[in-house]
Amino acid sequence: MSARHKTTGQVREERAGRRIAAPKSICVTGGAGFLGSHLCARLIGEGHRVTCIDNFHTGRPANVAALARSNRFELVEHDVLDALPDQLPSFDEIYNLACPASPVHYQSDPVRTALICAEGAANVLYRADRDGARVMHASTSEVYGDPEVHPQREDYCGNVNTVGPRSCYDEGKRFAETLITDFARQTGVVVKIVRIFNTYGPRMQPDDGRVVSNFILQALRGEDITVYGEGQQTRSFCYVDDLIEGFVRLMASGPEVEGPVNIGNPAEISVGELARIVIEMTGSTSRIVHKPLPVDDPRRRRPDITRASSLLGWMPRVPLAEGLAKTIRYFARLDTSPSASIQSQPGVAPVPRSQAAVSI
Ligand SMILES: NC(=O)c1ccc[n+]([C@@H]2O[C@H](COP(=O)([O-])OP(=O)(O)OC[C@H]3O[C@@H](n4cnc5c(N)ncnc54)[C@H](O)[C@@H]3O)[C@@H](O)[C@H]2O)c1
Repeated sequence: MSARHKTTGQVREERAGRRIAAPKSICVTGGAGFLGSHLCARLIGEGHRVTCIDNFHTGRPANVAALARSNRFELVEHDVLDALPDQLPSFDEIYNLACPASPVHYQSDPVRTALICAEGAANVLYRADRDGARVMHASTSEVYGDPEVHPQREDYCGNVNTVGPRSCYDEGKRFAETLITDFARQTGVVVKIVRIFNTYGPRMQPDDGRVVSNFILQALRGEDITVYGEGQQTRSFCYVDDLIEGFVRLMASGPEVEGPVNIGNPAEISVGELARIVIEMTGSTSRIVHKPLPVDDPRRRRPDITRASSLLGWMPRVPLAEGLAKTIRYFARLDTSPSASIQSQPGVAPVPRSQAAVSI
């Protein structure tokens, strides 16, 4: 095939030295969210046909507006609590990301959150079985709860409260792992489970209370930076491009990659230290203030990525300072005043839902 017949994405991929896979029909549930929009962009860039399914609970059509220019991209407004619509194309792969991901959102309707974890995953599995598609499911480091083992390996079974305010998500995601694994055993559908550790980058939602976006926005606005507890609790932050590389490698992996795989950056940092770095990088005058720790907030989090590195050849590449600089630039382009509507901000094209998505 001559370069003339290749898509821009394929040419770009070739120049970047990446192997071009045969184009596939790929579904991304939750594709208009933070991670999903980066995944859709990556897959479109590789020349695939992508169907993005989202109910816009926490995601936005604007996150994928640039992709809508490709005739290989389709945005479908749909709730995964309902079966995936029959009229969609047959899929080779389904990435299941649909689920509210931050406490402020998943706790606002915890029953629904638990059901999305269970029934949303079931609907994806039924569709995968029908189409002969493989599935990659987005699980979370929250399945380890407040871990007593450090760093967390995939064979650590976790320390999770079944009845706390975070349980709808933590236990929901644990149940989804069980359902997916049993479904694969019973039907032969190929499934991959990624346990995602804290990830950050452009297109994080400004209002969802996650620590990186919170600190950056507070610093840019010159507001007090809220650190819960003494700020000694640690987190490990992975830049979004690194995570997406892990997704793609995991989806492509062979039968030797069974069971959940941690993807995250093992570089551990205390929340207090992160606040100081953000203040320095933004040149902010913000002060750090302390508030009580939320219930069941984990004290330490760090992935053991031995499996990802040995089975997938995956390692995070983007250092915290570089990823934070990109994320700060993204938020700095937005109007950071608390009252501003994100849809009407420069750099974020407002896309009326009716024009952007096909409702099925
Ligand atoms: N970002 C992280 O650090 C992180 C960490 C661990 C796990 N995860 C998992 O990764 C996935 C994506 O997270 P994210 O950070 O991009 O969050 P996000 O909130 O930006 O994305 C979730 C997307 O799912 C959509 N959605 C929610 N409920 C839906 C439903 N019933 N039907 C259809 N669409 C629905 C939302 O509108 C949104 O677009 C989630 O499953 C989350 O649990 C993320």
